[in-house]
Amino acid sequence: MTVISTEAAQSALDPLELRRCLGSFVTGVTVMTVLDADGKPEGITANSFSSLSLDPPLIVWSLRLSSRSFNTYKNALHFAVNILAQDQMPVSNRFAASGVDRFEGVEYTPGIAGVPLIKGCVAYLECRLEASYPGGDHVLFVGRVERIHMNERQPLAYGGGGYLAVQQLTA
Ligand SMILES: Cc1cc2nc3c(=O)[nH]c(=O)nc-3n(C[C@H](O)[C@H](O)[C@H](O)COP(=O)(O)O)c2cc1C
Repeated sequence: MTVISTEAAQSALDPLELRRCLGSFVTGVTVMTVLDADGKPEGITANSFSSLSLDPPLIVWSLRLSSRSFNTYKNALHFAVNILAQDQMPVSNRFAASGVDRFEGVEYTPGIAGVPLIKGCVAYLECRLEASYPGGDHVLFVGRVERIHMNERQPLAYGGGGYLAVQQLTA
């Protein structure tokens, strides 16, 4: 067992080490989609997504306060969680890129309130914004799940600063 000394725990955290440490937690990859105030589709790659509650059905994700799309997400009543499939690494990179039209060439269908559902994903959770909470340099968005869809596909994973493939292990 590794015992963390009080001294070590009290010393200032190295931001790079913290990033590396947090990055060792493997997640899936989502694109959070909304319509902006003009009805234009917006999307951002996010791996901060997590389930929160089954009854009521709630999910949570966090967005950096400095994101250019911050106001769009803050004001959107509806958003969708698009859970990416293993072959959608280019989609993840595109929705994380700056200075590009992220939806150019991306096929999608309109979901509840016209929110885009990107084609080819593993699953979709269509949500209504339930609450938002401050979280340091991020804000936490809680969504109430109104509708779900699932496809038989392998999910894309992310960890250690890179994309990973998921492999089923037998117990
Ligand atoms: C795999 C991956 C996961 C990410 N997860 C988040 C996230 O959970 N929250 C967030 O604010 N940004 C996240 N980002 C960064 C955004 O996708 C985006 O690159 C960044 O916000 C800059 O664009 P913007 O100024 O348009 O927001 C992630 C990027 C990648 C590649």
